[in-house]
Amino acid sequence: MPEISLLPEFLTNKIAAGEVIERPASVVRELVDNSIDAGAGTVSIEVLHGGKKLIGVSDDGTGMGREDASLSFERHATSKIKSEDDLFNITTLGFRGEALPSIASVSKVTLITSPVNSRIGTKVEIGAGHKKEVAEAPPLRGTTVEVRDIFYNTPARRKFLKSIPTELSHIIGIVTQKALSYPGISFLLKHNDSEVINVSAAKDIKERFIQLYGEDFINDFLELGKETVKGIRLYGFSSTTGFARSSRGYQFIFINRRPVKNPTISHAVYNAYKELIPKDRHPAFFLFLEIDPEKVDVNVHPAKREVRFESPDEIHRLVESTIRKALNPRREEVAEYTASPVFGFKGEQAGKNKIQGWTVRETLESALQPQGESLSLKNDFQTDFFTGGIIPDVHRFFYIGESFVAKVANDGLVIIDQHAVHERVLYEKLLKKTTLDIENLFLPVRVELPAKEFKIIMNYKGLFNDFGLDIGEFGANNVIVRALPRELHRTDMKGLLLDIASGILEQETIGTKDETGKQNLLRNIAAMLACHKSVRGKEPLNNEELSQLVADLEKTEVPDKCPHGRPTRICFSIDDLRKMFKRK
Ligand SMILES: Nc1ncnc2c1ncn2[C@@H]1O[C@H](COP(=O)(O)OP(=O)(O)O)[C@@H](O)[C@H]1O
Ligand SMILES: [Mg+2]
Repeated sequence: MPEISLLPEFLTNKIAAGEVIERPASVVRELVDNSIDAGAGTVSIEVLHGGKKLIGVSDDGTGMGREDASLSFERHATSKIKSEDDLFNITTLGFRGEALPSIASVSKVTLITSPVNSRIGTKVEIGAGHKKEVAEAPPLRGTTVEVRDIFYNTPARRKFLKSIPTELSHIIGIVTQKALSYPGISFLLKHNDSEVINVSAAKDIKERFIQLYGEDFINDFLELGKETVKGIRLYGFSSTTGFARSSRGYQFIFINRRPVKNPTISHAVYNAYKELIPKDRHPAFFLFLEIDPEKVDVNVHPAKREVRFESPDEIHRLVESTIRKALNPRREEVAEYTASPVFGFKGEQAGKNKIQGWTVRETLESALQPQGESLSLKNDFQTDFFTGGIIPDVHRFFYIGESFVAKVANDGLVIIDQHAVHERVLYEKLLKKTTLDIENLFLPVRVELPAKEFKIIMNYKGLFNDFGLDIGEFGANNVIVRALPRELHRTDMKGLLLDIASGILEQETIGTKDETGKQNLLRNIAAMLACHKSVRGKEPLNNEELSQLVADLEKTEVPDKCPHGRPTRICFSIDDLRKMFKRK
């Protein structure tokens, strides 16, 4: 008896499903791709319970005749490629002929379809036990696929499904991606009968961007000039330097309208932002590349999330230079500089220098001018220091640049990072709650969020109470903030909520149900709240305020580090100084 045997088809399909169908959102992706490939003008998606119970996708595309409808569930059955040559010139989203059989192997599926102008339609049903039934149906234009009870027969997979809101947010993510890459198609997404996304056909990507994210959002982005170099076309949006995020949310790359992850392109983008945003912040971008299909291999990942380029260098150059130009049209004329950020910010486009509340300084000299009541390094500090040596009773603070503050102490010199200190102090205040001063807003703040982020924030709104934030729902995708701690007054609420939503989503993939998960989530949110306030509200403080801040820092549990682990203060003892000056 040979040891090797050919696996039965239902098993090979199930194995393929393991790669292609990870969660309800994967089903949505595959079905919507099929609708787009079928030339649909409108795609409607309806899901129940985060897609765990039902996913229905309807389109007004070409539809299928009876024979095709039945064949479409066979493995490797596709109308999209016919020969090996076609494999290297793919212009459709699908081509592997795997989606429908994979979906049918892990769920119960009904497909109803009819070709244009046909007098008769077809219904294909595959229930438990994988038995396929084909019957006549009314001739409704296009195709409708209903997928029920995903992973009903794969308990191991079912167990890994997350909460309904998490699964829904992945579905919203997929529909948003598809809507962005196909502005000409109308998309409707409903969850448990309520509308989540509803966008009519748009004339271009900009209009679609506004439909999905709102007018406000676009102001934080620069539209990239449509560049075509060596047959590669790049267009889209890239965030202004002021919009930099604490997470990698809002980073979209589409190659020939296919959403992908691509390290070459991401690297090029980060290069373009180098020195323009703080090291631990991330740009947001929506990049669309159109490349001759022969120059890009899309058949390198079963769910087609990755691609391989014939000449990655060219792509890298194009992306980096296009974004650089958008960030600073004048920068090309300026010689490459390696100056510190004080100088680096100088060339920023007029009116665009919203650098996280950093004031853009023209020269180092002006950066060292006296601020508030504290003294500048140039004046009193120098005289005191050089004429009198280190004077033990100097109670004054000195600004060095915009965020560093120095103070002479009995045993040397202490330099604090005002921003990091602020973060630590506020972070612990938020976690302890007791010392928060809550302010009921006379005029509540309304914030419009993208659908996905809105759902996440609403689902976790109870958590915000813990930090003294009273937030609620205010119509479609609008959040209303009624009260907040005084310390968060004048925070950029929208940016904050967007960052928190991505933080929650990240934490959800690790787990938020158990106690450690919950605590981590609370700490994450507190760190984000603290960071936002400290980044945005970076006004110079006077001597008393700085003394208070340092006193508050002393009272914290971890005075040496900000919540992200960066140092809050660095001390040079007289001994250290002696060593540095080689006197020891
Ligand atoms: N919504 C639809 N409208 C028209 N034809 C469809 C639709 N969905 C699937 N088909 C047909 O079924 C075939 C198999 O679909 P699928 O398993 O997703 O494989 P692929 O998309 O890779 O070809 C497609 O090639 C297409 O011909
Ligand atoms: Mg397909």
